[in-house]
Amino acid sequence: MSIPVIVDCDPGHDDVFALWFAAGHPSLELIAVTTVGGNVPLAHTSRNARIALTVAGVHDVPVSAGAAGPLSRTLATAEWIHGENGLGGPVLPEPTVPLDPRSATELIADKLRAAAEPVAIIATGPVTNIAVLLRDRPELADRIREIVWMGGSTERGNVTPYAEFNAWVDPEALALVVASGIRFTMVGLNVTHRALVTSAVRARLAAVGNRTARFGDELLEFFCRTNDEVFGMPDGPLHDPVAVAVLADPASVGLVHTRLDVELAGAETAGATSVDLDGMLRREPNAWVATSLDVDGFWAGVEASVARLA
Ligand code: RIB
Ligand code: CA
Repeated sequence: MSIPVIVDCDPGHDDVFALWFAAGHPSLELIAVTTVGGNVPLAHTSRNARIALTVAGVHDVPVSAGAAGPLSRTLATAEWIHGENGLGGPVLPEPTVPLDPRSATELIADKLRAAAEPVAIIATGPVTNIAVLLRDRPELADRIREIVWMGGSTERGNVTPYAEFNAWVDPEALALVVASGIRFTMVGLNVTHRALVTSAVRARLAAVGNRTARFGDELLEFFCRTNDEVFGMPDGPLHDPVAVAVLADPASVGLVHTRLDVELAGAETAGATSVDLDGMLRREPNAWVATSLDVDGFWAGVEASVARLA
């Protein structure tokens, strides 16, 4: 029985692979895609999500645009990694997947109400849309099976010394979602930095040989180049599909139940995810945090999902 999932994302090269992983994996049923301002402004992230599904031949999944920016801060984007349009590298096709007229929260609410069972939400950007949904429609919380989020870190950040980008863009939204009591899993940089696009991984994915793989290889060419230029990481870490792996192949991602708090006020540390792995603060555990990855099993899952697409 496949798990119904909604992916809320800010495509972004790695978000595209998360969408493909979710759309192509037999254990998951992708029932909706929603977008948020993050890596690039909302107009681009929404168009890019439609392009990702168009390339993959996925035409039966609605795509809605959500929040253009954070709950209370000013949006800061990441063109230095993803390019001006958010999908630097390939010539982008015109998307044939339409933009659903509903807002992200309207689409999610409709899907939650209609689903035969609680729905998992996989978030691969700032969690502004999820926070707005839970703030404005708290009655729907019990229709959400769990939230799995790529973001945060148990170690250093990637946009400031202590904050990972998705957390840093909207830490208030993250704090609200973590406090909701819905099962929450954080898949941070401490694990996603193991999902490295090595030359062997690129060759493995390119060898799938379909349209999706060819487009994906052009994305990875650009993504690895910018990660090399910015972080000195020529094997770019493909962050977002690791969050999908938590549901698609639970055995491939090790989790611990621990305490997660979000820094909101720190002049230098805002957006930091404080993960009390040693229980030093003696606070109630409130999140599952990824601490390990079966790297080969992960790539095998991504490869198999891409192979099931156009
Ligand atoms: O820090 C990495 C995260 O920020 C990824 O989700 C990437 O797509 C960007 O959104
Ligand atoms: Ca993302």
